[in-house]
Amino acid sequence: MQAASTLASQALGEVAKWVAPGVTTQRLDTIAREYICDNGGTPACLGYGGFPGTLCIEVNETVVHGFPSAYTLRDGDIIGTDIVAELNGYHSDMCYTFPVGNVDEKVMALLRTTKESLYKGIEAAVVGRRVGDVSNAVQTYCEKRGYSVVREFCGHGIGKKMHEDPEVSNYGRRGTGPVLRNGMCICIEPMINLGSKNIVMSQDGWQTRTRDRKPSAHFEHTICFENDETRILTTFDYIEAALEANGVDPMIVRGETEISTQV
Ligand code: MF3
Ligand code: CO
Repeated sequence: MQAASTLASQALGEVAKWVAPGVTTQRLDTIAREYICDNGGTPACLGYGGFPGTLCIEVNETVVHGFPSAYTLRDGDIIGTDIVAELNGYHSDMCYTFPVGNVDEKVMALLRTTKESLYKGIEAAVVGRRVGDVSNAVQTYCEKRGYSVVREFCGHGIGKKMHEDPEVSNYGRRGTGPVLRNGMCICIEPMINLGSKNIVMSQDGWQTRTRDRKPSAHFEHTICFENDETRILTTFDYIEAALEANGVDPMIVRGETEISTQV
């Protein structure tokens, strides 16, 4: 699981080098696919239920499962890139939402809060506690700041398959749901909207956007529980190094580096 997660993390690090106005989302997808394949992995989303990309591409109001396309990124856009890498039969799943050029301060605040809420969820993910504790931590953090939580999609267990039990919702009550146990691997992936929580799905059955067409942000890590410790298997370190090199604010969350280097 760690090897697959490092591969996914490095692949998004490559993608991060190229996110800029004028780049097509198809180009980003190709970069991710080639990186995974060149390093012995399989792009698990490609062909999954007919999905047409290595990356799920989430521009602005797209919430999840957007297709790579000829769309050219524009100054002021945000773009989520969600990736699943398979290596030696194990899967890792992660997502990062990037600003493109100069992004409205309100939208930057949405990105920061969503990223922070992922780490709040991870902080609540402790052996012996329950999935609902994670869900509630994410929900409370985002709703207190005036954002809304997407209900229709959630995090999940992961391992030999991309999606396993349990479901890890981004809203819920503390003390409810399955107990977190050593040996489990889960993905926590808040999908947070600037406006209302309502979403609509396109006729293709995949691509999903906010109903009010306001922006949505999405960050995700794969984590596991081992020897009563929580380990974050994926890392944003490669992405953040690439962003810093390009002069883009890497939105470091307080405590993030310490948590990541526990691994
Ligand atoms: N992180 C996404 C999810 O858990 C990955 C989906 S891959 C796809 O739903 F192929 F289903 F698009
Ligand atoms: Co996922």
